[in-house]
Amino acid sequence: MSRYSSVFKDESKLDINYVPHTLLHRKLQLNLLNQFFRFAVENPGGMTQRALIMGNIGTGKTVLSQHFGLDITKEAKQRNINLNYIHINCRECKGSLFMILQRTIMKFYPNFPRRGYSAEELLQALMQILDDKDAYLILTLDELETLVQNEGSDPLYNLSRIQEDRINAPKRLSLICILRQPEHLENLDPSTRSTLQRNIIRLDDYSEAQLEDILADRVSLAFRDGTVPTQTLTLIAELGNCERGNARYSIELLWRAGKYADASELRDVSPECVRNAVASVYPVVRKDMIHEFSLHEKLFLLGVARHFKQTDSVYISMGEAEESYALVCEEYGETGRGHTQLWKYVKTLSAAGVIETTVSGVGQRGKTTLIGLPRVPAADLEQELVKILMQGGR
Ligand SMILES: Nc1ncnc2c1ncn2[C@@H]1O[C@H](COP(=O)(O)OP(=O)(O)O)[C@@H](O)[C@H]1O
Ligand SMILES: [Mg+2]
Repeated sequence: MSRYSSVFKDESKLDINYVPHTLLHRKLQLNLLNQFFRFAVENPGGMTQRALIMGNIGTGKTVLSQHFGLDITKEAKQRNINLNYIHINCRECKGSLFMILQRTIMKFYPNFPRRGYSAEELLQALMQILDDKDAYLILTLDELETLVQNEGSDPLYNLSRIQEDRINAPKRLSLICILRQPEHLENLDPSTRSTLQRNIIRLDDYSEAQLEDILADRVSLAFRDGTVPTQTLTLIAELGNCERGNARYSIELLWRAGKYADASELRDVSPECVRNAVASVYPVVRKDMIHEFSLHEKLFLLGVARHFKQTDSVYISMGEAEESYALVCEEYGETGRGHTQLWKYVKTLSAAGVIETTVSGVGQRGKTTLIGLPRVPAADLEQELVKILMQGGR
């Protein structure tokens, strides 16, 4: 029997859903959130609040909000206030207010009937539940772009209005919105937008040194003592820094590097383990994410991937992408969707971070949208998509 013992002592500390006890380098932003929502423990019912957290992928938006949620509900409890923090990912809810509200209500009543209500009715039901329980709610809408893309500005407008309609009743529902792409703000109605813009918390990309601190903290929680040498940490921080200070990518690299060490029965996690890990992690594109795209989004993405396989350029035009998509549709015996629909796909795919878009010749006539694929090798993406499409993953 092998006497090898793992470099890990607790892998769960590297899980994407783990909320660390200390948030490094985000003290200011955490304080700001606490300021915005101070009333929730000092004068609950007196007012409501809406705040917006913005920043690139892996800048700690989700974890900041969750951390704040834990802190404030703990304080409320000490003061005997029934304050709830509920964190909902809009992408997981397919950008549907209905599903978001359903999940929210089910946090209070897990057996709440799934059918028979409209979104509007669910919202009324939620307010009723809060009244019945004399409860207050801070609802976080994470990855808000999917909701805005799917249903426009109505959901946020309705979530705000329901409070304003309740003139003499206590105010119970506050919102935290989390958004990666500022351009989605333009799609909101002016009053929602201006409130959010007043209470904005921006998270800058982490520097290399900051990433190293975050990683070192996580190493002490997840790895056995002395199994991760400093040069390994430095290398991962450097790589994370190249990905725009992406802490998520860095932590995933750290985890995978540890896995390589274990697989090779090494005593510590060497830089070579990191290099092996790099080859297997796509910084942003997770396979489970690809599964969630619709059939034609997948076909469009396949067209984009194929095009990039054949060219050395960093961007392709929307026109080129459309041509490539048309070929893919032919191959799969599907009728190609129209231009307007393809625009929506581009938006979804870029909100998910798989592709990136930019506009050429801004300010000139005939400006055109360009599509880039910065985070995943085109050949790997193609292979993955073909596999999913073959399995009938439509
Ligand atoms: N300041 C921080 N301190 C400790 N861990 C952090 C910090 N910022 C981010 N992380 C970790 O990095 C990963 C990505 O953070 P996350 O909140 O998911 O980023 P975002 O939501 O902006 O994409 C998570 O595992 C999170 O726990
Ligand atoms: Mg997030």
